Amino acid sequence: MSKILIFNGPNLNLLGIREPEVYGKATLDDIIKALKKRFKAVTFETFQSNSEGALIDRLHQARGKVAGVVFNPGAFTHTSIALYDAIKAVGLPVIEVHLSLPEARESFRHHSFITPACIGKIAGLGSIGYQLAVEALLAREG
Ligand code: DQA
Repeated sequence: MSKILIFNGPNLNLLGIREPEVYGKATLDDIIKALKKRFKAVTFETFQSNSEGALIDRLHQARGKVAGVVFNPGAFTHTSIALYDAIKAVGLPVIEVHLSLPEARESFRHHSFITPACIGKIAGLGSIGYQLAVEALLAREG
């Protein structure tokens, strides 16, 4: 049975309240419940933090313990070489997910430090992106 880490960065604890016209009305809890409902054979670990160090520590803990990671790094996408390094260091397959399409927004969102460490990326499709990412990880496992 697959174990997948649903991994979320800063401000994603406020989904549902935070700029719903950009990020949708679903809360993080709604997103995780939908994943558990759809992928009954998967064991989901979940972690959200507003702190870069806590995210790095949690990723280190996941090393060798999960089959893959679905990661929405929030604004750390555009700033964090340390999270890029952490993904490379743990050697886990990571799929980057964004609810919005950063490349279609402000120019400071156009660059991701995270993408080059990932096996793939899903953006702009709202909360279904998390489900698509899980499906892609499972398909890799065969
Ligand atoms: C986001 C996009 C980022 O640019 C932003 O800082 C977020 C959310 C998204 O899911 O669309 O916090 O990662």
